[in-house]
Amino acid sequence: MFLKKLSVINFKNIQQTTLEFSARVNCFVGDNGAGKTNVMDAIHYLSLCKSSMGMTDSQSIRHGSDFFVLDGEYTTAQERKETVVCSFRRGAGKTLKRNGKEYDKLSDHIGLVPIVIVSPADSFLVTDAADERRRYLNAFLSQLDREYLNAIMRYNHILGERNRLLKNEAAAPDLMEVLDLQLISFGEVVHRKRAALIERLAPLVAEYYRVLSDDREQIELHYHSELNERPFAELLAAAADRDRFNQFTTSGVHRDDMKMRIGGYPLRKYGSQGQQKSFLIALKLAQYTIVAQERGEKPILLLDDLFDKLDMQRVEKLLGLVAREEFGQIFITDCNKVRLESILERSGEDYALFGVENGEVQVL
Ligand SMILES: Nc1ncnc2c1ncn2[C@@H]1O[C@H](COP(=O)(O)OP(=O)(O)OP(=O)(O)O)[C@@H](O)[C@H]1O
Ligand SMILES: [Mg+2]
Repeated sequence: MFLKKLSVINFKNIQQTTLEFSARVNCFVGDNGAGKTNVMDAIHYLSLCKSSMGMTDSQSIRHGSDFFVLDGEYTTAQERKETVVCSFRRGAGKTLKRNGKEYDKLSDHIGLVPIVIVSPADSFLVTDAADERRRYLNAFLSQLDREYLNAIMRYNHILGERNRLLKNEAAAPDLMEVLDLQLISFGEVVHRKRAALIERLAPLVAEYYRVLSDDREQIELHYHSELNERPFAELLAAAADRDRFNQFTTSGVHRDDMKMRIGGYPLRKYGSQGQQKSFLIALKLAQYTIVAQERGEKPILLLDDLFDKLDMQRVEKLLGLVAREEFGQIFITDCNKVRLESILERSGEDYALFGVENGEVQVL
């Protein structure tokens, strides 16, 4: 499925625009603050009903307005037309329509138009604490697997109840036993599915990284979980005294992490900015491949700020990678038109070019 046409009204700094896209490579060029990322974010909204930048719906309304409308027209692999309209009005909330019919739940839409974004904002995945990497894994798996989504939601809910009970001096042992059984059962589902995903992800990330770095560096991705060592039931039993003392649950999948290493050392400490960025791109391309396999649909790929921290050689390798057949529609932004054009010319890819200035988008 690809995005054929996009109309935007009052979204961030874009007052009104209608654009027609190529089924392959689309590029937005313009100065800092022009609105390139905002166009990308509109495309992201239509897939996942939310900003990729962590902005709320109201913050995404153009200053001085009280609503925004995003209207996307997609073409499916069978040449069918699909329309998705997302609108938000202050005070009235968000509505999402597919082919004119409003969804009961926004979450029913997730997965219809799969999307993967690579952006400078991803760096938090390397630099920030483990909960960001768990959030990433949760979002990734939830898009693919309803059973995972259910298990992680139930796990977090029961974890909250268990922690409340631990804070309560007169904790009822019967209730604790019931909660433990449920926590173990959902925690094991979460663990099993995370382990399976990372086992599949790790070799793909390593392979994409190898290509990006021209075989110069070796990287590794590992799943770090206490549940890799011992069954959850044993862990919980062993931690019982500690949990009562601390008044919260000290072991479980809510303490999992994803470890990233380069040349055998932690990426966060020893990886250069370009190496960290290359790792994140490799991770996102691997995610793309798995989503494409699982859904039988090529996701839309957003490459925001293409040259961010990468040298020319790695950008060329990246473009060479995404030019492969397994990738579908791609959106690229860069602030330097000459640089982007020259590298695209060399790659031999067909592309559509748009200039962005002050929230206005023009075909170049
Ligand atoms: N709700 C809003 N209403 C009006 N303008 C907004 C709103 N939200 C963001 N902006 C404006 O959008 C502009 C930023 O746009 P965007 O992030 O798309 O720029 P960009 O072209 O990607 O720039 P860069 O090259 O620096 O990444 C800023 O000037 C910002 O003030
Ligand atoms: Mg930007």
